[in-house]
Amino acid sequence: MADDVYWDPEHLEEVVSQRARILGPAVWAAATPDPRPVISFAGGLPDIPSLPGEILARAARWVVENDEKEALEYNGTFGPRPLRQALAERSTGIEGIPVALENVMIVSGSAHGIGIVCETLLDPGDIVLCESPNFPGSMRTMRTFGAELVSVPMDGHGLRVDALEVELKKLADSGRRAKFIYTIPNHQNPAGITLPLDRRQRIVELAQEYRTLILEDDAYGELWFKQAPPPSLYSLSGGDHVIKVSSFSKILATGLRMGWTMASPAITSRMASVRYDMGSSAFLGRAIAQAIRSGDLDRHVPHLREIYGRKLGRMEAALREHCGTHCTWTTPDGGFFLWLLLDPGLPAGDVQRVANKKGVIVGGGPQFFADGRATNHLRLAFSYVATEDIEEGVNRLAEAIEEVAAAPAAK
Ligand SMILES: Cc1ncc(COP(=O)(O)O)c(C=O)c1O
Repeated sequence: MADDVYWDPEHLEEVVSQRARILGPAVWAAATPDPRPVISFAGGLPDIPSLPGEILARAARWVVENDEKEALEYNGTFGPRPLRQALAERSTGIEGIPVALENVMIVSGSAHGIGIVCETLLDPGDIVLCESPNFPGSMRTMRTFGAELVSVPMDGHGLRVDALEVELKKLADSGRRAKFIYTIPNHQNPAGITLPLDRRQRIVELAQEYRTLILEDDAYGELWFKQAPPPSLYSLSGGDHVIKVSSFSKILATGLRMGWTMASPAITSRMASVRYDMGSSAFLGRAIAQAIRSGDLDRHVPHLREIYGRKLGRMEAALREHCGTHCTWTTPDGGFFLWLLLDPGLPAGDVQRVANKKGVIVGGGPQFFADGRATNHLRLAFSYVATEDIEEGVNRLAEAIEEVAAAPAAK
């Protein structure tokens, strides 16, 4: 850099922090809808017609009329007390173990919660065991704290506990241990799989045995279609060595930027102490607390389960009809995603590119894997697309698959 200039846009890299350099200049735009008139199976975004404007307007009015002063003041870094209280009560029912106010912290979406966990626990060089495939947003966050991500494979039933044990043992044999295990046990992003009870129990045991923590990301847990998932890892640990991060993004709206963490009081307090954002929105927090107390949230969630279950049904019927000869998948029990495995010789990147040209956007690629390797999978979100566009979207995807299959390089 020239001596007389201490910064300019071209030399910004020389003044930004190590973390900013790890992140690079590209701005993360998770799940931004494509501005073109396309059919999007790409982003993990909620269904638009079911966005809860009425519920939120009612709750916001209640807050202004009954709780204006507290709602418009700082509420501290643990988050607004009425929401922590409402979540503690509601979670006690869902988790089947007592959840107290001291276990709950309000955050600005689960991505923020995951950032706070990283801020609290990670030093450069620390190891995080990540199920693979995985949510790129979280892996990106962990990497910026200098963590080394070690990939643990999944199979058709979720994280492979035998492979997890091998990694934990390997680390122990070399005198190291993982800082935490990061898992999305319910309706996983991107694989759509829900981890069975015996594997949950084993992961909780292994974490204890090898003295590591667990970060349980439950962005989609409440959105099951036929049957609630098995107890959370948090519940199975008795709320001890698991930090569970949850979100209102998928059960209310992503734009609220509201979520919560559950952990032991000691860890929760430590997480609150590393915050520099003066706490999440007191106003929104109190409005959501009111939506919980009024019963509105608990009436809304079953409605969403029904919508997403129906959209998945439509997508699977269209896939069976148009793409069935070239791919396979496991039906997810809930959530937003179907993880499509293309037959050998059909590179996912090629199909993705051709589909994009035909006006249907799908997810996939190395960013879903901690070790950067890609498989022949595509991630199809059935949540955001209008129901009436699902068949046409799958039809275009089928055309793209046929085109790639017919290309000379395809084997
Ligand atoms: C698995 C998972 N975790 C966390 C997030 C972040 O969500 P939010 O910060 O909106 O709660 C997402 C968003 O798509 C996700 O899929």
